[in-house]
Amino acid sequence: MLGRLATYFSNDIAIDLGTANTLVYLKGSGIVLNEPSVVAIDQKTKKVYAVGAEAKAMIGKTPDHIAAVRPMKDGVIADFEITEVMLREFIKRSQRKRLFIRPRIVISVPSGITEVERRAVTDSAQNAGAREVYLVAEPIAAAIGVGLPVDKPSGNMVIDIGGGTTEIAVIALNGIVTDISIRVAGDEMDEAIVQHIKKAYNLLIGDQTAEHVKMVIGSATKLKNDEEMEIKGRDLVSGIPKILRISSSEIREALAETITQIVVAVKTALEQTPPELAADIVDRGIVMMGGGSLLRGFDILLKEETNLPINIVEDPLTCVVLGSGKILGNLHQYERIIMKSSRF
Ligand SMILES: Nc1ncnc2c1ncn2[C@@H]1O[C@H](COP(=O)(O)OP(=O)(O)OP(=O)(O)O)[C@@H](O)[C@H]1O
Ligand SMILES: [Mg+2]
Repeated sequence: MLGRLATYFSNDIAIDLGTANTLVYLKGSGIVLNEPSVVAIDQKTKKVYAVGAEAKAMIGKTPDHIAAVRPMKDGVIADFEITEVMLREFIKRSQRKRLFIRPRIVISVPSGITEVERRAVTDSAQNAGAREVYLVAEPIAAAIGVGLPVDKPSGNMVIDIGGGTTEIAVIALNGIVTDISIRVAGDEMDEAIVQHIKKAYNLLIGDQTAEHVKMVIGSATKLKNDEEMEIKGRDLVSGIPKILRISSSEIREALAETITQIVVAVKTALEQTPPELAADIVDRGIVMMGGGSLLRGFDILLKEETNLPINIVEDPLTCVVLGSGKILGNLHQYERIIMKSSRF
């Protein structure tokens, strides 16, 4: 009874502070916030205009003095002050209004994060209102989120392709056995599309347009039928806005190099995996998650390249925060997987 009451009044939260999206899980309630990691800010006065979806809609469209900023880059904090502003706002939005106790917060971070980066996340969350901060590695949180038996001696391989990082990890006995984290993921795919359109057509398109193209006609393998779509940008020669038709096959080619880097990283991780655990992976296959895993045909390509069963999880965009939420719900049981920071 007391336990249930404590859960009811708890304002403890788990946060997936992602390069592209931030999600918040409130203990006892589930996911209460899912917003793009974007802040619109006046560069001179530092006045904050919008945070989250509203700010993302402003990217590339703001007047000179206002900037729509993504404070996270490659999975880590690129702008400390703006990350703090964003966290404070998201924490505020996710709290029950009547409570004033500072929350305990579990935050997931890339496994390859440096001590300095770790400290930055911890400080940022504390300045934004956290009473205590616990860091967990994203691949473990993701594995727990999808219900993999991480505490058993068998190996589980997860691939999380996000906006800023791709993390490939083999997890066994609550720890990460093999771990490769590269700063190549969805953002690089968008950038590859921007560069292709610029080089092939002298047309400048925005990141948002590139992301849209990737989601609509982008693919990692050949599609059954070639698809086309119209895009708008600015002609670099005349300076005038222009409409262009592009095809799925050229976008596939534009994405090929980025995708190859991810495939190579997966193969390297497999090579580095101890044989007994590799045998488990042959049996159980690999699970894929993160928004980047939704690129069409990515699972098929990985299957072809590795000859292993590949499964995209049911909730690729939420499993990290759901796992962090489970950890938050039982901090004692998961004690061993909380990252050690020199601060505690
Ligand atoms: N249907 C789709 N096809 C291709 N890419 C997609 C699709 N849906 C989302 N994405 C991409 O997924 C990325 C965001 O994924 P996710 O929310 O998992 O990243 P994140 O957790 O914020 O980033 P990170 O973990 O790297 O810090 C973006 O690059 C987005 O463009
Ligand atoms: Mg992520």
